[in-house]
Amino acid sequence: MKILSLESSCDETAAAVVEDGRKVLSSVVASQVEEHKLYGGVVPEIASRRHTEAICGVTREALEQAGLSLADVDGIAVTYAPGLIGALLVGVNFAKGLSFAAGKPLIPVNHLRGHIAANYIAHKELEPPFLCLVVSGGHTHILEVKDYTDFTVIGRTRDDAAGETFDKAARTLGFDYPGGIHLDRVSKQGNPCAYAFPRPKLDTPYDFSFSGLKTSVINLVHNASQKGQNLVVEDVAASFQDTVTEILCDTLMRAAQQLGYRTIVVAGGVSANSALRLKLKRACAQRGFELYVPPLNLCGDNAAMIGAQAYYEYRSGNTAGLDLNASANMEINR
Ligand code: KG4
Ligand code: ZN
Repeated sequence: MKILSLESSCDETAAAVVEDGRKVLSSVVASQVEEHKLYGGVVPEIASRRHTEAICGVTREALEQAGLSLADVDGIAVTYAPGLIGALLVGVNFAKGLSFAAGKPLIPVNHLRGHIAANYIAHKELEPPFLCLVVSGGHTHILEVKDYTDFTVIGRTRDDAAGETFDKAARTLGFDYPGGIHLDRVSKQGNPCAYAFPRPKLDTPYDFSFSGLKTSVINLVHNASQKGQNLVVEDVAASFQDTVTEILCDTLMRAAQQLGYRTIVVAGGVSANSALRLKLKRACAQRGFELYVPPLNLCGDNAAMIGAQAYYEYRSGNTAGLDLNASANMEINR
């Protein structure tokens, strides 16, 4: 089954063709990041307008690269939630038009399910059940993936998402949006033990809270500048990154041990972080767990991951009518 998939939930307009959930026939991503950089973050209205301009060309290119016409695909998949509502609506409406015109089934895909499915593309042997950490710009979840379309969230952030925390700390240290990748790079030259940042104590076992950590980076930088002191940016970055990735890794390992999972999957933009990948690799090797992370080109937003998940949604009977709407805040298990 060949699925044409579309993604427009944030600042990437993407289209792909994926066969049977695992084989990418084409994948095209048009990023708007250079424009949003000017404002230090994604400006929702600009995002919607750029998606409107780009989506037709990106879709045409994805079909061309796959050597297919619209008539050759067996379904149209689209990210319908969660994300920026105006941005999502561009993809949803475009997908509806294609589905109507070509007479193909319309398959709605939750963006976070898509991030997890990026691993199915890269790791052909991977199948649920497994324990999964989703770390993106907007979400930080630990979930039990019981089947391809059966998810239970067992932990989540109570405030900022991991990616958001990276981006805010990076901005405080003077880096462009999105700053996660810059912090990752400069941390390689820094001392991760230079600063002790707080680790929150929560009364639920697998939840996260990153706002205190974010505030302490901001306070450190502001206090130093008020006193005219110079901070070693690489040391602050490395200490911050070490704290975030240690919290993520420790919590995930504890959950796996307590719930009896031996297969661990990581997904979302922050899964590109080199310190997180290294910590998880070591921790999983120590415990004899199998670790799956997406290749770097599938960590961030793309449509191939949406096409991968769409195959399993279709198999479970999850198609939509032409009254499909977008949703900014949909839970992954709904
Ligand atoms: O999954 P994603 O592409 O978009 C959302 O669905 O949110 O995640 C984007 C997030 C941004 O916060 C970005 O800074 C972060 O992923 N990110 C990283 C790295 N690469 C991307 N964070 C830390 N280290 C990285 N190497
Ligand atoms: Zn994403």
